[in-house]
Amino acid sequence: MKGKKRDDAHWILPFYKATLLTLKNLDFMSEYLHGYNDVEFERLLHQATFLAPFIFEKLDFSHACFVLEPGCGVGAQTKLLAEKNPNTQLVAFDREATAIQKATEWLQNWSDLQHQIQFLHADAGQLKSKFENYFDTCYICWMLEHVTHPVDFLMGIKPLLKKDCQVYVTEVQNETLQLFPNCHKTLRFWEAICAHQISIGGDPYVGLKCAEYLEKAGYNNIVQIPYNIRLDSSNQEKLREMIEYWTNLMRSVSPYLPENLWEGVEDELIALSKQPDAYFSYTFIQTFASL
Ligand SMILES: C[S@@+](CC[C@H](N)C(=O)[O-])C[C@H]1O[C@@H](n2cnc3c(N)ncnc32)[C@H](O)[C@@H]1O
Repeated sequence: MKGKKRDDAHWILPFYKATLLTLKNLDFMSEYLHGYNDVEFERLLHQATFLAPFIFEKLDFSHACFVLEPGCGVGAQTKLLAEKNPNTQLVAFDREATAIQKATEWLQNWSDLQHQIQFLHADAGQLKSKFENYFDTCYICWMLEHVTHPVDFLMGIKPLLKKDCQVYVTEVQNETLQLFPNCHKTLRFWEAICAHQISIGGDPYVGLKCAEYLEKAGYNNIVQIPYNIRLDSSNQEKLREMIEYWTNLMRSVSPYLPENLWEGVEDELIALSKQPDAYFSYTFIQTFASL
């Protein structure tokens, strides 16, 4: 079954790229590491809520009126942004039609947010005619890690942004994952995920590079802040939740990696969450800039 999924993934990619031929800037694209399916869509929804206290802690939207969210996926973060900032208008776009379709379906149920959010299946170039020089805030999260040419992408959205637009980029820095004790299988699996992501055109270490990318793309006032999440068994419940979240994240990539690599990983993580001297540490990177 897993082997079949891997075959499907290879078959789907050319088909999927072909369906996107109407979109410009195909060279921005990498294959999406987690695949597009209902399990992944649910994972993104849970992820947004679970990580929100960390991601939003240092971001200030008090002056935001028109917010652009590239790579919004199923709109999980868009929903949170709209709820937290009721005076904003959000335009959220993604290159993946099924993700935007899901986001649009959910928006039907969020009647009080409908006047605030527009979801669009598009790339940045397609938005230019309607939204040139329009946004005062741009929010990018867990997206540049899936982009093959981030500088080109960051240049591509510039025509949509007003002068002084505030840009917030939150990205992965995957070598910072630390699990203690005894997580050899998990860490081996994590390394395999990172290698796979690179092989399909993404970058699991993009976080610390974002300052340079923003500078090359012509942004100003660049500030980079590492955000460390460290949990240990003094807060067993939070540690357990974090390990469960990480297990789901890794499981979502397991169909695309050799089957034997996943063996024993879940057991190791369950054991870790019960261990009296356990700790988890991960550092993601936030980069702020303006135009
Ligand atoms: C990990 S998901 C994150 C979704 C959302 N930001 C969140 O945190 O829930 C990354 C998304 O970026 C999208 N993406 C990647 N490259 C893109 C591009 N060049 N233009 C638009 N969307 C893109 C993918 O299709 C995917 O849905």
